[in-house]
Amino acid sequence: MSRRPEPHYVFALDVGTSKVAALVGEITPEGKLQVVGLGTYPNKGLKKGVIANIDATVQAIQRAVENAEHMANCRARMAHVAITGTHIKSVTKSGVAAIKHREVQQKDVDAVVENGSAIPVPADQQVLHVLPQEFVVDGQEGIQDPVGMSAVRLDVNVHIVTGSVSAAQNLHKCVEKCGLVIEKLVISHLASADAVLTDDERELGICCVDIGGGTSDISVYQSGSIRHTAVLPIAGDQVTNDIAVAFRTPALHAEKIKLQFGCAQPWMVQADEQIEAPSVGDNPPRVFSRHVLAEVIRPRYEELFRYVAKELHRSDMLQRIPGGVVLTGGAAQMVGVVELAEEILEVPVRLGFAHGLEGIEAVSRDAGLSTGAGLLLYAKKMKPELARSAASGGSGGDFLMRVKDWFKGSF
Ligand SMILES: Nc1ncnc2c1ncn2[C@@H]1O[C@H](COP(=O)(O)OP(=O)(O)OP(=O)(O)O)[C@@H](O)[C@H]1O
Ligand SMILES: [Mg+2]
Repeated sequence: MSRRPEPHYVFALDVGTSKVAALVGEITPEGKLQVVGLGTYPNKGLKKGVIANIDATVQAIQRAVENAEHMANCRARMAHVAITGTHIKSVTKSGVAAIKHREVQQKDVDAVVENGSAIPVPADQQVLHVLPQEFVVDGQEGIQDPVGMSAVRLDVNVHIVTGSVSAAQNLHKCVEKCGLVIEKLVISHLASADAVLTDDERELGICCVDIGGGTSDISVYQSGSIRHTAVLPIAGDQVTNDIAVAFRTPALHAEKIKLQFGCAQPWMVQADEQIEAPSVGDNPPRVFSRHVLAEVIRPRYEELFRYVAKELHRSDMLQRIPGGVVLTGGAAQMVGVVELAEEILEVPVRLGFAHGLEGIEAVSRDAGLSTGAGLLLYAKKMKPELARSAASGGSGGDFLMRVKDWFKGSF
């Protein structure tokens, strides 16, 4: 009788400003990615994507992880973890190498990428990603994989992403306090884009904006490669704060009103539609029109999209995105946001949900889970041997070494 092979798992942790999301993915024998565990928990420990309270963050991670582990009936030891915040900077550089044996070998590729990524990094920053954009083989541009090509000179353009050392260390600290090890820190932009963009969009030229609670993460792709990344400190929590201030209602109520009645385009709601907001203290609840609420919400989203336009213009990316913009992240789900973004950015805009994963459906229906879903996809991509091993029903030596950190058990 054939024995069912041991499940092959990948684990993702998105420590966001609004919530922590923990996801467990299983690589099926067919090599597909199935989400088998999901845990989310509100997070009060972050400010604009950066840890401001260790204890609160640890507690939120613990709860989210426990829920995901319980659902998947497995225990996580290593995770791909998302990092964001305005401390994340990026720069594009080029590198060059002479090809000794007239044919490009892997070691030449490594050498040219190393040459391109040799930039001075300030002491308080660390390199998070070195992402080759394209290779140029003896002047021929747009080469994705030059290994095996005849050449005397190899050039590369690399996108280098750096982040604050202390922000990364605090993330490590919080995750380790929960008994987990960070396998790879991945900037949220990359993870979200991996989850929601299609290959065609990435080829044509597209901008992805993940609008979260504390930050909005921008990534631009063209010809299949990353071209630009940026983080803006404007997102959903400010919208909630605007509502709280405008209607003098506690933040908790403002959030509920936003989710239930919010709209970013005043013309989309009826002028006579009334809603009620509890006041602070003993004051009686206040009644106001949904139209007025939309008038409070719109300016913040408008400000965000004007900054996105400015960033695309500043980085010379506007001409590179004929595919337009894909919005994702929790706050992109506000009614009327896609229409507003189209109005301001003057390009086609769509709302993006995670695709390429099976299993728990909520992951592909909640744009706030795009980063977590993208981390799972990223983890799978980084471990092709897992997919191969799952497909062959076996467990290779290297694979066993890697997954020894996982064990199946009941809780
Ligand atoms: N349906 C919805 N309509 C409008 N806003 C929403 C909706 N669902 C969630 N949000 C808002 O999205 C924000 C949270 O988004 P998300 O879960 O992507 O943030 P996060 O990943 O925790 O934060 P960040 O990425 O900024 O660190 C909150 O401001 C929340 O109010
Ligand atoms: Mg997020």
